[in-house]
Order: sequence, then structure tokens, then C-alpha cells
Amino acid sequence: MATIIPTIVISLVVLFCSTSCHCFVKAQNNDHFHSVQVSSLLPATDEEACNPSPKGNRRGNSLEVKHKHGPCSTLELDKSSRPSHVEILEHDESRVDSIRERVNPKLVEVDSVTDHKKVPKKDKIKQKAVGLPAKSGSTIGSGNYIVTVGLGTPKKDLNLIFDTGSDFTWTQCAPCTKSCYKQKDPVFDPSESSTYSNITCSSTLCTEVRSATSAPPGCSSTTCIYGIQYGDSSFSVGFFAKDTLSLGSHDIVQDFYFGCGENNQGLFGGSAGLMGLGRNQLSVISQCATKYGKVFSYCLPSKSSSTGHLTFGKGGTYAKSITYTPLLSSSSGPSFYFIDLQGMTVGGQKLSISPTVFSQGGVLIDSGTVITRLPPDAYSALQTAFSKAMSQYPKAPALSILDTCYDLSNYTTVTIPKIGLQFGGKAEIVLPASGIFYVKGLSQVCLAFAGNTDATDVAILGNVQQLTFDIVYDVAAGKLGFGSGGCL
Ligand SMILES: *[C@@H]1O[C@H](CO)[C@@H](O)[C@H](O)[C@H]1NC(C)=O
Ligand SMILES: *[C@@H]1O[C@H](CO)[C@@H](O)[C@H](O)[C@H]1NC(C)=O
Repeated sequence: MATIIPTIVISLVVLFCSTSCHCFVKAQNNDHFHSVQVSSLLPATDEEACNPSPKGNRRGNSLEVKHKHGPCSTLELDKSSRPSHVEILEHDESRVDSIRERVNPKLVEVDSVTDHKKVPKKDKIKQKAVGLPAKSGSTIGSGNYIVTVGLGTPKKDLNLIFDTGSDFTWTQCAPCTKSCYKQKDPVFDPSESSTYSNITCSSTLCTEVRSATSAPPGCSSTTCIYGIQYGDSSFSVGFFAKDTLSLGSHDIVQDFYFGCGENNQGLFGGSAGLMGLGRNQLSVISQCATKYGKVFSYCLPSKSSSTGHLTFGKGGTYAKSITYTPLLSSSSGPSFYFIDLQGMTVGGQKLSISPTVFSQGGVLIDSGTVITRLPPDAYSALQTAFSKAMSQYPKAPALSILDTCYDLSNYTTVTIPKIGLQFGGKAEIVLPASGIFYVKGLSQVCLAFAGNTDATDVAILGNVQQLTFDIVYDVAAGKLGFGSGGCL
């Protein structure tokens, strides 16, 4: 008996392996690679129709999210004014530069450092403190998404860029005493709204403008004046005001505080202004805290021919499973949503990156940054592993900040390694194919990640890598969720 049992066990193992293990290995392979129709990687063309994502059964209050450019955009004044891919990537780099300046730990050091010569970024910071309004917000960039909100009574529809990387909401206001850039919607006219009022300079709310715009408020007769400048020298200056904000068809927020811009300039792409979803007291999320409990979620569509959602309150996702990681805050960048990125995989293989590589400069998630920025060591590990897995495909020249590009024009399908991101709280996401590449055309398909130069610079999870995920910002519970397949 004793000798028979092992024989049975062995033959069972052999039997099991000869039938199942083969399939298992095959499945594993497919698990770690995307087999992709090359044509599906191409950006939407203007000839394509807008094909909105199905809304699903979201229970919160949802707004439709559209890409600023392309078939679903209602904003485009003139297609020829659309930025080129190189311009989009350059704007992205200046947005990232201004985020780095706002959160770089060196900023914190400045106050205590007496030996001025040793801090290279010091000069820039000093200049910022002198000029007014301070260069404070992020560059608006070109990779942004818009939503339609209603303002005033009766309500007027306005298309605003939504931005988790800034706090202050503003729109251009008639009579545009100094200047307004061209926008698609009629300019908001406060004199036509029965619920509009200016905020006075003596109001305590006026003092809160400083932290939301990074510039001290001014005063014109008795009206509180705000000024916000973005990294690329776009700006908005005007009256600090309140009015009724309508989100979706039925939700109304009374006494919503915002900027009524009389002097506005910059790359706002035909939008009426900006909606700030950061962590500051004046952000939409804080102002609507009692209504929505400091929870919002969004899904950014993979193509400009589709749409996503921005939902306030719980219930913004119908993804079957949401994986949560702690949402962190940092005193060096109090407006931003920090997350605990810990590791990465390429084609199922864990990259050897020391965990301190990510913690050194911190990692934040931003809706307006296009390309994910990684610490130098993490990017070089990713780049090496990805290039190795893609070695069968011919390389193409770099595209601006993207140095790992392929010419796929001779292929109909390609096999690309999946990229996984591991976060604190044992959360892991695997990027869909749309989250891996930035595609100029089939002859220049580039890995949509870039490396920071400095190991202490903040890393940023950009919006290419967020595409099609339902991303849940549960600020109240201090967690961020990812649900795959939130929109197309
Ligand atoms: C708001 O303040 C400005 C500047 O003082 C003034 O011109 C404007 O008429 C005020 N609007 C309202 C509705 O009070
Ligand atoms: C594509 O195929 C053509 C014809 O075989 C060849 O001449 C060309 O070099 C190929 N291009 C690339 C990028 O491999």
C-alpha cells in the first residue's frame, strides 16, 4: 500500500499537468500581454461621429466629460487652432514644471535655509514671491477635459475645464472690463442673474482667496478681487463672487463662491473657465461637502470620440470591483491628491525598484497632466523592461519628452506587455492598452511615461494612465479607488 500511493499521486500529477498545465501556461501568457489591433490605437479622426459612453446606473449626480478637442467637443472654435502633438507634450511639461515647483520639498526648505547659494531653485521662488499675482496654479495644458455646469438664476450653461490640480473656480464675466479670450458659450453676465452678489473685502471668505489662488486678494471699492496665474502665464483676474451653481439637471448648490473674471488670458481652448477640484477650502469638493460628503469620481474616455463622466457624491461607478489605496496629503502640496505608488510590473514581471524611489519625492494623481512622470530610477527600469519586451518591433524617433517610440505601420496586430501599478493597501491596477501609448500616428507610437530628472521631484500619475478607469476620490474616507472599464 505504502508504495502504491506515491505512484498514484505521481500519475495524477502527470495526468493533471499534461492536460491542465499547458492551458495554464498559455493563459498566463495572455494574462501578461495585450494583443492589440494596431488601428485601435489611433486617435479619433474628425470624420468619426461622437459616440457617447453609455451612462450606466450611476446613482450620484453625473456630468458628461468630454475631451477638449475632437468629435465630441462642443468647444472648438477653429480646428486649425488645435495644438499639435508636440505642443500638447510641451504644454504638459510646463504644467508638470509648475506642479513640481508647488510641491518640491525644496520649497519648504527655503524659509529655513540661510545659505542661499546652495538651493538652485531659490531664485525662481524669490521671483515668484515678488511678482503679483504669483505664478501659482498649474499650466492649463492641452490634455484637459470639460464638463457643462449651470451658473446663476436663470441658469446659464458654461463649459469648464475640470482640474484636480487646482482649487479655484472661475469663469469669464461680462462686461470683460479688461479682456476676455474667445469662448464658445455666451460670456456669463452677472447683471442677468438674480442670485449673483459680490463678496466684500471685509468678508472672512475674501481672506481664503489667498490659499486657493496663492495670491493675496485685492480690493476694488468694497469688492474682493482675486487673481490667479497659471504656469504658462495664463491668468484670470476679477471679482470674487457668489451665485447658484447647478450640477446636472437637478442638483443646485446655493452660495457657490467663484471668480467672476474681468481680465482673462490664456490657453483655455474656448472653454468658459475652470473648475477646481483640489483639496482647498474653496474647491468645489469642499464647498459641496455637506451635499456630496467629499466624494467624487470620474472616468476619462479613451478617445475624443467617446465621453466619460464626472460624478459628485457616492455611486459614481458601476465597475464590478473597485480597488482602493489610501489617499494621502502632504503639507508641501496641500492642494494635491497624493497616493502611495510602491511598485510596477511589465509583462507580469516585477521591476526591481526600491520602494524609497517613490517615497522620496512622493506621487500625486492629477486629472490635467497627460503623461505619467516617474522618478528617474523607476522610469529607467520601466523603459528597459518595456523595450526588451517590444524588441521585435522597429523603433521610431523620440516625440518631445517621449523617448521610447515604435513604428508599427507594417503591423495589423501587435503584442504588448501589460503594465501593472502596485499601490499601498495592496491595490493593484493593470493598464489597458490605451493607458500605455501616446500615439501620434502608426509610425510613431510612444510609451506614455517619462522620467523626472531629479530623484526628489514629485512623480505624477497622468491622465493617459487613468483612461477608462472609474477613479473614485473618497476624500472623506481618505481613499482613492480604481474600477476598470468605467467608460469606453
Ligand atoms: C461688483 O463689484 C464691482 C466692482 O466694485 C462693481 O462694478 C459691480 O457693479 C458689482 N456687482 C454687483 C452685482 O454688485
Ligand atoms: C515596412 O515594410 C516595407 C516593405 O516591406 C519596408 O520597406 C519598410 O522598411 C518597413 N517599415 C518598417 C518601419 O519596418
